[in-house]
Amino acid sequence: MTDQYTTSQTGSAVPSDAHSLTAGNDGVTALHDRYLVEKLAQFARERIPERVVHAKGGGAFGDFVVTGDVSAYTSAAVFQPGASTETLQRFSSVAGEQGSPDTWRDVRGFSVKFYTTEGNYDIVGNNTPVFFIRDGIKFPDFIHSQKRLPGSGLRDADMQWDFWTLSPESAHQVTYLMGDRGLPRTWREMPGFGSHTYQWINAAGERFWVKYHFVSNQGNIEMGGAEAEGIAGADADYYRRDLYEAIEAGNFPSWDLSVQIMPYEDAKTYRFNPFDLTKVWPHADYPLIKVGTHTLNRNPENFFAQIEQAAFSPANTVPGIDISPDKMLMARVFSYPDAQRYRVGTNYNELPVNAPKSPVHNYSQDGAARHGFKPASAPVYAPNSFGGPVADPARAGVGSWESDGELVRSAATLHSQDDDFGQPGTLYREVFDDAAKARFLETITGAVGGTTVPEIRERAIQYWTNVDANLGAALRSNLANSGETPNEAAEPVGTV
Ligand code: HEM
Repeated sequence: MTDQYTTSQTGSAVPSDAHSLTAGNDGVTALHDRYLVEKLAQFARERIPERVVHAKGGGAFGDFVVTGDVSAYTSAAVFQPGASTETLQRFSSVAGEQGSPDTWRDVRGFSVKFYTTEGNYDIVGNNTPVFFIRDGIKFPDFIHSQKRLPGSGLRDADMQWDFWTLSPESAHQVTYLMGDRGLPRTWREMPGFGSHTYQWINAAGERFWVKYHFVSNQGNIEMGGAEAEGIAGADADYYRRDLYEAIEAGNFPSWDLSVQIMPYEDAKTYRFNPFDLTKVWPHADYPLIKVGTHTLNRNPENFFAQIEQAAFSPANTVPGIDISPDKMLMARVFSYPDAQRYRVGTNYNELPVNAPKSPVHNYSQDGAARHGFKPASAPVYAPNSFGGPVADPARAGVGSWESDGELVRSAATLHSQDDDFGQPGTLYREVFDDAAKARFLETITGAVGGTTVPEIRERAIQYWTNVDANLGAALRSNLANSGETPNEAAEPVGTV
């Protein structure tokens, strides 16, 4: 028995949770049964829009502890020797909707929010170090091609391969996706990457280019296509359940964070554009430097409040860290807060999961659901003569870079090795072993076999021929020999 009595949202006791107010047992329902009305109205508003991408996910809270010394490269408090910072991490799939099976082949999101003493810092990355495109203006088209046809509401291999083959810069990421990386065993057993090149600024104001790598202490373990397909049917929440149960059992997953550092001037003459998100920086050129360890040790108490309403954004930077001239990153910096104002609401940063643990001082006010406010005497504009907060450029630790000032729409290739197929070819030939190569061929045979438009299928064969001539020939022969009518060979999972 409970000693609590049920109330309405405004705190007054309600007569029943079982019976509406009716005119006699079989009579009409009274509109003035305000608890019934409140209950139904509240229920109808329980959902907020799902994330337009990365809708299915899960997450947990943790700690990031610095064990290395990268103070020569950044002044950010979160990365200073000995610092320990509370974190929130969310993992996700990209293309599937909220209820979609975790084990559909896809890229996985890897987002970390650091609640630092200097404001929130978010790394919003993936389990792959590269991406499908290199200009944010293509992102809506890319996502449309990977989601559903407007008429049938079905996923469609023709539109996926049409976009990819007409966007050859996708080849590196598609090679990761169709390889083992596309089916991690669990979120715990996969790596994370910031993917983009970011900027670090040290206490002396010197600038560096940086890439983030989270290396799983559980190892990188994947599953086969048939197993993933079986799990997709048996337990759509396989990854979410695995993470929750591991943390409940005290089996806390952790990742070591390392960085690659490129001296600022190197970027101008490096052999490929270091801000191109379709490329990795070889470790031989820029080795990993360990920063610290990230451990997840606390499950959410409420999935909706703490995970669904969580708002991660590459725009959330702190002094000593900034963005770079990567066109994808510049588009993302606009897009995430924009999406979150719509998805969660204007004042989403006031929610406990999103609010920084450091103080917030500015002249923003009002808006839907605002609950925080300053004393009536506080000035509401800048500049003012009454002691309100004042911006201090010296504290902000912001980065910068030179620009020629000319406004253009082009993908300038000023570096000697800015091609689309070199790195995917190396990944296929030198990183995949023979067994991984065989699985890869089987996966792309199924996926390309799902196309029905002959020109698109031919372009897909050419695309893989450009990655590796032998691979292209093997794919052509597999497709010719399969004897399957188009679509029967389609990978039965919802490939991004
Ligand atoms: C989520 C846009 C590229 C990783 C999102 C969301 C939007 C978005 C609007 C939903 C945000 C929300 O409602 O909270 C874009 C645009 C891109 C882009 C416009 C290209 C210009 C990327 C790249 C990565 C990435 C390159 C990884 C390196 C993620 C992740 C999430 C996400 C992990 C889920 C965040 C979470 O866990 O809540 N993206 N995205 N996105 N994106 Fe992107």
